[in-house]
Amino acid sequence: MKPIQVGLLGIGVVGSGTFNVLLRNQEEIKRRAGRGIQITMVADLNVARARELVGPGVAVVNDARAVIANPDIDIVIELIGGYGVAKTLVLEAIAAGKHVVTANKALLAVHGTEIFAAASAKGVMVAFEAAVAGGIPIIKALREGLTANRIQWIAGIINGTTNFILSEMRDKGLDFAVALKQAQALGYAEADPTFDIEGIDAAHKATIMSAIAFGIPVQFDKAYVEGITKLGAADIKYAEQLGYRIKLLGITKRTPKGIELRVHPCLIPAKRLIANVEGAMNAVVVQGDAVGTTLYYGKGAGSEPTASAVIADLVDITRLHTADPAQRVPHLAFQPNAMSDLPVMPMGEVVTSYYLRLRVADETGVLAKVTGILADADISIDAVLQREADEITTEVAAGQAQAQVPQTDVIILTHDCLEADMNAAIAKMQALPSVLEPITRIRKEELA
Ligand code: HSE
Repeated sequence: MKPIQVGLLGIGVVGSGTFNVLLRNQEEIKRRAGRGIQITMVADLNVARARELVGPGVAVVNDARAVIANPDIDIVIELIGGYGVAKTLVLEAIAAGKHVVTANKALLAVHGTEIFAAASAKGVMVAFEAAVAGGIPIIKALREGLTANRIQWIAGIINGTTNFILSEMRDKGLDFAVALKQAQALGYAEADPTFDIEGIDAAHKATIMSAIAFGIPVQFDKAYVEGITKLGAADIKYAEQLGYRIKLLGITKRTPKGIELRVHPCLIPAKRLIANVEGAMNAVVVQGDAVGTTLYYGKGAGSEPTASAVIADLVDITRLHTADPAQRVPHLAFQPNAMSDLPVMPMGEVVTSYYLRLRVADETGVLAKVTGILADADISIDAVLQREADEITTEVAAGQAQAQVPQTDVIILTHDCLEADMNAAIAKMQALPSVLEPITRIRKEELA
């Protein structure tokens, strides 16, 4: 049988990895897929560089639409990224009857409903293993391997850049800004790192996982998103003393009231395997009712790790493209007519436990006032840690004598409570004159 013909839109880091791995392992891949898989056409704005990468025998153009219009192309790989031209091209490829493979998490998290509906109407597949956690086959695991389970929750380190920064902060006692600069110098963080450090990239991935785990539509606009920019070295140190590590987690959870979908820094027990995932690595924990807890670990980015996921999708499509569309694995794991309308809950309705750090004047009664506010809100305290007071010299007013004001950090771990109740309690504690700086609040998950 003649090889299946693939057109590649965008030959950057992942595109060139895909081309190289496909060529290097072509015999092995053919034995698995049942026929050869060949990239025969590439579109890239930098035609000269693309030609150099693919050599003779592959058509190189600067117009993606020429690939989509080519009747010999069976599958289009979209590696352009973003929600702009990539969305238009993916919809055009679907309309032209092409199967699509994409690594574009932003596109699917925001426009997935429209894209999957268009693909189903046209009877083509949109495959996206590379969109979540790079080389880790988490989409396959959730959609197929765990299909027997009622999934209860997923918690993942799904952004390598922020995990690298947090590892550096912990290892070297660095503050966020210094660790970010190092990550940029080493090429782990982009010149504009906003999507990574503000948690947006992780939220795109968590949104996709929530849809597949619970059979709900992709709803990025409902995700709660908080990045790592406000974390300080002190919090990482205190967490360590209490037996926890701080990680940026993407969490999605089934509750009686609806689905939690949130990305934020989190204290997790240092003894959990996922707490020990360091550097730019990714890991995802999935809890299913039958299987229990499972953990998936690997590289979440990079040329060949991501190519590994892209090619897995090419093989799946090659095996299935002649099958009746009704017999294929549904895009979001559940049949389109069997999706759930469970709501994604607002963050205020989420129940979790907390780490609080209060910088206070070391005066009689401060701790009593703080714990009194928590007690009034029915928030139960799990542990309190108070450091020795620092003698801080504060200038009272211009030209006046200096005053010695002893200050200290009070760290409180709470039991589970409603986020809305915690917000109200924090506002009251913040209003106490003895609380000298904005209170740091980090959510805590036991992942038991
Ligand atoms: N920027 C992402 C990360 C990789 O740091 O994990 C692509 O999603």
